[in-house]
Amino acid sequence: MRKRAEAFDRWIRTSFVALNTELENLYFSQQDRSRVVGVGDSLKERLRDEGRAHIVELLAEGNTGDGFASAFGVLGNVGLYLGALRRHELTNPAREDRSPFPEASSLAMHVGASLGMVPRFATAHLTTHNMALAGVRKSFTSLPDEFLFIDENTRGILAFQRAADALMRIVPLGVSSPITDVLFDAAKLALSEAIRINDRLFAKLDVDRFFYSVRPYYKPYRIGRQEYRGANAGDFSGINEIDLLLGLCRANDPYYAQLLVDKMLFMLPQDQARLRECMTHRSLLDELLAMADQYPRSDWFQQNARLFLEVCALFARTATQHHDMLVRRFIEAPAANLVENDLQGITASGPPLPVLLRSLETLRDLRVAAKREDLVTRHGDLERLRALTSGL
Ligand code: HEM
Repeated sequence: MRKRAEAFDRWIRTSFVALNTELENLYFSQQDRSRVVGVGDSLKERLRDEGRAHIVELLAEGNTGDGFASAFGVLGNVGLYLGALRRHELTNPAREDRSPFPEASSLAMHVGASLGMVPRFATAHLTTHNMALAGVRKSFTSLPDEFLFIDENTRGILAFQRAADALMRIVPLGVSSPITDVLFDAAKLALSEAIRINDRLFAKLDVDRFFYSVRPYYKPYRIGRQEYRGANAGDFSGINEIDLLLGLCRANDPYYAQLLVDKMLFMLPQDQARLRECMTHRSLLDELLAMADQYPRSDWFQQNARLFLEVCALFARTATQHHDMLVRRFIEAPAANLVENDLQGITASGPPLPVLLRSLETLRDLRVAAKREDLVTRHGDLERLRALTSGL
């Protein structure tokens, strides 16, 4: 498999990027930038046929057991190819009941099932496991805004992973341990970095380029009969590890449990394992509250509860930024200018935009521990901890 997989990978990193970029520039130069059908047809045909030639050869050869990295790379490359065909309207799940690309579907299903992941490209392919060759990482296009988006997303994911890792290391020590100071500090540092990254994305990313030329590659598409939602920057376990360890979200809450189930197979197998493990621990908030009556004035309680609250405040800030800055500026605002037909499939997860926005708002409010009559959050519990640690 290796030689053919490498040839496909080379094509994905070169001609594929050049063709997509050329098509994006054609679309973007039009009065109506959302018009895709009937534009650049010969470029689209080249993209479809050159990719297919690689895929047919790989499919005939089958999975020859070259290991995880090779199979994962093939899955990502078929996924990028199908994502691009979807973006250029060569396929659209709304008008088909099965993918018109049977070879690519078969290859993706074969490799995806063998890895224990969905048969489409996942966030990790373009972020944490996007292997750079001579400084160039994989992408759909060579547009600077796509690189900005991918790079800052990756930095953001790495920051959340560092925070999750630090919090996870508190579990075996116990939240009353004096050693937790270094771990809470590490989590604070990592979350402060995530805040800076969100600020940078907000300031530097071009709204139109992102909306018209980058985001459309993340639309849902079919593999075989089944439609799969698009990848999004949230498909890594770190963010949920933080939710669960801090205790802001609970794995037995039906809304949140559904979210975890839905994203499980979009994550790398090692992330799936981390998330499963995390679900078995009692949260740090519950641990602190369980000791609050007995030891409210002890030094360790005061110090660790304060540090815990500082971590929560920083995490809340990242959640507010994501929703109130990034989603609002880069998705909600430009979507307001589109007609109904063009709105279909602009979100990676597929539901209509207002539904998606409400769901993201719920998530923000859980992470912020907002006071809401219609939603159970940890607002009261955090208030209690704050009261116990203030003025002593
Ligand atoms: C231009 C920047 C960004 C925009 C417009 C954006 C938008 C979105 C949208 C619309 C969703 C819902 C899923 C869907 O598309 O259907 C989502 C999910 C998510 N995004 Fe972003 N995002 C951005 C950057 C980031 C960054 C830098 C991170 C940090 C790693 C991030 C983390 C998440 C997470 C964790 C989720 C899953 C839901 C959650 O658990 O909060 N996003 N994003």
